[in-house]
Amino acid sequence: MDHSGRIAQVAALFDRVAPTYDTTGHPWFTPIAAALVAEVAPRPGERVLDIGTGRGAALWAAAEAVGPGGSAAGIDIAPGMVAAAREEAARRNVSVRIELGDATAPAAGLGPVDLIVSSLVLFFLPDPAAAVRSWVDLLAPAGRLGVATFGPRDPVWERLDAVFVPYLPPELLDARTSGSRGPFASDEGVAGLLAAAGLREVRTRHFKQHLHLRDVGDWRHWSGSHGQRGMWEAAGDAAPEVLALAAERLEAARDGDGYTLGQDVRLTVGHR
Ligand SMILES: C[S@@+](CC[C@H](N)C(=O)[O-])C[C@H]1O[C@@H](n2cnc3c(N)ncnc32)[C@H](O)[C@@H]1O
Repeated sequence: MDHSGRIAQVAALFDRVAPTYDTTGHPWFTPIAAALVAEVAPRPGERVLDIGTGRGAALWAAAEAVGPGGSAAGIDIAPGMVAAAREEAARRNVSVRIELGDATAPAAGLGPVDLIVSSLVLFFLPDPAAAVRSWVDLLAPAGRLGVATFGPRDPVWERLDAVFVPYLPPELLDARTSGSRGPFASDEGVAGLLAAAGLREVRTRHFKQHLHLRDVGDWRHWSGSHGQRGMWEAAGDAAPEVLALAAERLEAARDGDGYTLGQDVRLTVGHR
């Protein structure tokens, strides 16, 4: 599939999940985005751009940190995400700019900004190195860029997600799956993307994000509410078999009445 086809496919997937994304009662995208924002430490008065803002997980934290003297903007390729984020901005009564936009070719008018954040987006882009270069062009002198990507999962989680493997077409890979290849397989790989775009003092920090589930039905609900929905769609009529196998494999993560899965998250920050 060519680059524009891949971008359109990802956009359509996130458009389908937008109504449920990050709303299933499992803290996941919001704490990861909050950790990313804390890592880049926005200062009052700064201008922030959140690329691939989704429903605004990083945007609200960034807007609060820069305060009324600063500015916060977010772009996303999925119209449903943009609509949901705008509704959330109105509900929160926060003044932010949220636009439909492509992370692989962000409009020059989005810059200059002091800070760019992008949480769990870069691995969806067909040419992440080119994307990061285009982001750096939007940074003011001494601006910072911070990205969140996935490190390794717990072995139980690896085995759980592997239930989809027989059904996946090569181009339909979940972020964490594609994260085991190319630049997202290591700290050096992601740091290299930032360094190759001209950023200095690139540093990496990791933390563990846990997902708590009541049962396998809970996992079905959660996993269908974000990018992994694409895997369920690929499984099609085999979904009941996938779920039964997942239930067996999930058992290895039993923690009292429920289950706890762990995912390493990598935060990478560089300076212009
Ligand atoms: C896993 S979600 C992360 C959303 C948000 N940053 C968060 O942490 O909740 C990935 C987001 O990237 C967006 N995205 C994927 N490809 C994109 C592109 N080419 N341009 C802009 N946004 C894109 C998707 O629409 C989706 O909202």
